[in-house]
Amino acid sequence: MHSIRKDPDHEMHRDLAKYGEMTTLHLGSKTWILLNSQRVVSEIIAKKGSLTNGCSPMPVASGIVSRYGRSLLLPPSGWTEKRRVMHSLLSGTALRQYAAWQELESTQLLAEYLFQPELWYRHHYRYANSVVHRIVLGGRLVKTGKELADLQDVVTHSIGSIGSSMVDWFPELESLSKFLHLWRAHWEKLAVWNYNLYRSWWVPVREQINAGIAPPSFVRDVLLHDDTKFTGDDQEAMYVAMQIIEAGSDTTREALNIFAMASLYHPDVMTDMDKMPYICASIKEVLRWRPIFPFTPDHVLTSDMEFEGYHFPAGVGLVINGIAVCEECEDPDIFNPERWLDGHETDAAHGLWQFGGGRHICVGYRLAQRGLSLNIACLVMCYDYAAAGSYNSHRLNHHSTDEPFPVKVTVRSEEHAKLIKEDATRNGVLETKWGRSEI
Ligand code: HEM
Repeated sequence: MHSIRKDPDHEMHRDLAKYGEMTTLHLGSKTWILLNSQRVVSEIIAKKGSLTNGCSPMPVASGIVSRYGRSLLLPPSGWTEKRRVMHSLLSGTALRQYAAWQELESTQLLAEYLFQPELWYRHHYRYANSVVHRIVLGGRLVKTGKELADLQDVVTHSIGSIGSSMVDWFPELESLSKFLHLWRAHWEKLAVWNYNLYRSWWVPVREQINAGIAPPSFVRDVLLHDDTKFTGDDQEAMYVAMQIIEAGSDTTREALNIFAMASLYHPDVMTDMDKMPYICASIKEVLRWRPIFPFTPDHVLTSDMEFEGYHFPAGVGLVINGIAVCEECEDPDIFNPERWLDGHETDAAHGLWQFGGGRHICVGYRLAQRGLSLNIACLVMCYDYAAAGSYNSHRLNHHSTDEPFPVKVTVRSEEHAKLIKEDATRNGVLETKWGRSEI
């Protein structure tokens, strides 16, 4: 357990995959089956999704820190209703509407790069957060840079609590008498920070909805709408909404950062992205090359399962070994989008397991794919990335709210700069942005 946590280069993920396509791990009182090849992930997570949709108990990360509000960390009884409302995010009609918002925010991203190239990484987060903010809470984002950094920080700590506490590896400890729960005070502090920050985003929106003056949003039109109303209480509704925002912003930010790192390592690839299939393939390669999820959340078996001569008892957690699966190809350390040009490049979830799979598959993967294609296409067209110091492509420092690795961004020409400014002015994102003193 300790080795997994202290392994930034993921050597252990690779070592564990040497035993074969599946590796059994006993971690605390839990049993995990690591799925180390694309074949078994597809057979088990995708094709046996109805059996593999549980989640192991996490009294700290799911209970104390998340107040049982993050669907990703709940058993089926806890996530079915949440998943029902979230489903609307995947519909084609919704995605078409979202595309316009993605374009607008991307126009702003290009302008932000022009005026504050040294804050390239902040622009990634603002972009990602603005899009999901508009979708989920409604209206354009008007948060300050500090407010955004606070959200990123609290989310990093809260998600970082997964697997951090011994209690989550030995969940039986939860049944001890309450006065022996010596860990509670520590995690409760994080929970309160998380809860209060969420409320500061949630309450104004709910008040606007109650007053009948809220713009269209997932919260107004699905979550709290009479026809589709979520059956949970106000606190649960808040966690559903904010979980989408956190899940959608952090991952997209990290993917854009990996793209920036890939531009330092393989600038030649980035000059050749004029064809859409190639861009789609590049998105998949960004997520394969430096996986955001070395392990995906465990999918727990809800009943016994037989698989190719093996017997798996109910209760074991099936975990995708993201590192092993992503490196199951020729020259895995080389960033090579062409490996994805197989006719399925426009489906980001085909053959790539970074969005998870089965009944719990990421609800935002189509949205993420569209946003990444749009931004990466525009960014490579308009900007050059160069190293501004030493860097290591395995050290992406996703947790940092400061510059994660040193990059110098330069606009490709005066002509490009002019077009970016014109586009931003035409779309009304230049004034709003640069009228404010900070991002
Ligand atoms: C590069 C971008 C993204 C990556 C790599 C990613 C990855 C993931 C993964 C691995 C899971 C867990 C799936 C499983 O257990 O099988 C997940 C769940 C989730 N994702 Fe994403 N995601 C991305 C973008 C987004 C976006 C843009 C949204 C917002 C709409 C989003 C919303 C969610 C939500 C709400 C869940 C929880 C679903 C549930 O509890 O059933 N994600 N994502």
